[in-house]
Amino acid sequence: MTAELICFEGRCRSRYAITEPIYNCPRCGGLLEAAYSKPESSVAEWKALWRARRTSNAPLDQSGVWRYREFIPFLADYSRVVTLREGSTPILDGRLAAEYGGLDRLRFKHQGFNPTGSFKDNGMTCGVAQALRLGMTRVACVSTGNTSASMAAYASAAGLQPIIFIPYGNIAYGKLAQALEYGARTFQVEANFDQILALVRQLAERLGIYLLNSINPFRIEGQKTIMLEMMDQLDWRVPDWVVLPGGNLGNTSAFGKGLREMKELGLIDRLPRLAVIQAAGAAPFYDLMRAADRSQLHAVVHPETLATAIKIGDPVSWPKALHEVNTTCGVVEQVSEQEIADAKAVIGKAGIGCEPASAATLAGIRKLTAAGTIAKGSDVVAVLTGNVLKDPDYVHQYHTGVLKAPDNTVIKSNFGNAPVVVPNDAGVIEVMLRG
Ligand code: F0G
Repeated sequence: MTAELICFEGRCRSRYAITEPIYNCPRCGGLLEAAYSKPESSVAEWKALWRARRTSNAPLDQSGVWRYREFIPFLADYSRVVTLREGSTPILDGRLAAEYGGLDRLRFKHQGFNPTGSFKDNGMTCGVAQALRLGMTRVACVSTGNTSASMAAYASAAGLQPIIFIPYGNIAYGKLAQALEYGARTFQVEANFDQILALVRQLAERLGIYLLNSINPFRIEGQKTIMLEMMDQLDWRVPDWVVLPGGNLGNTSAFGKGLREMKELGLIDRLPRLAVIQAAGAAPFYDLMRAADRSQLHAVVHPETLATAIKIGDPVSWPKALHEVNTTCGVVEQVSEQEIADAKAVIGKAGIGCEPASAATLAGIRKLTAAGTIAKGSDVVAVLTGNVLKDPDYVHQYHTGVLKAPDNTVIKSNFGNAPVVVPNDAGVIEVMLRG
């Protein structure tokens, strides 16, 4: 099987060796994607092979990414792959959340169960594997938090130096803490995500540092396996909808590519529809889908949302994401700060929990069922992208009724669960508990 990089732009489609350290097409500037020749073996055998590997103790087989290596065959040699046992994340039934979302049933594919607590690990193990293959010694990214936490862990585990750039004062503490603990050189830049991405691209180019943002096509290959693993766990029965939050739109691109490729290979017989949910203060993709002319995305210059993971105004992967949403007959919705906060508390109360950006999924589902876009009886899987402990400040502020939206209005703590201060007195507490 051969692997190469191909320009995503339909009018260019230039091809490059898989070992070129490039992120955009040198000819036209378009996004790049990994492409493979048709597999020689029967893909029907893959399903049995992937199932069998679940009982293996080999590190690559235990990884929910590399278990599926036939689906992402960009490496010639697996001996230097670093796995922290990413993937293998559960699909959980959320009864309370289904009711809140206006559905008979709702399942969550919870990427917060990953080693660094987000879906970024699926992509990062691949990005770092490619960095090692190319002989890189330093890797960099700009991040709203999760990419940096993940890159820090995987790069350090691989013996590479992680260099991360984050918007000063605008990422959740859990994520910053991880980057520091995993030994990343950490720069807090007084600018927003979009501005810092331009800066990091410049620095990476000048200093020969390998860039591990989601424009890196190998990150996308890893994130594709989230959909493959989901289908394997669903015994290849395709759901009607897959719902996910949208920020820089790498994940939307990855999910769409994964689903398309599964269909092309005959692993699934139809495509689920993608529903991408953005925070209303950072929703350029939502705006694009409503525009008469979809040939150019108009950036939101000052994106605002408490769901800092998706506080992005100029998503780089929008051409790919647009293609994937169109291909799957998908939709894009936006939700308010209040809607995200309440949905998040409901996911928590269902015993599942997630970070704010992830909860945009349930808030979006509630809106889309109310509008009749998603039918009550539909088979829906929402992808929770990050762990509840990523942003403990948000959780505490919501439950104690002091969470404020970016415009300074107080978010109503509709599902609040404030802690109660009591004296060290069993009698007093007993009265309260009997009441
Ligand atoms: N959910 C979480 C928890 C995220 O961290 C991100 C992105 C998204 C959703 C959106 O995914 O960008 O592929 O559309 N976080 C990036 C970061 C930008 O730097 O950690 P996307």
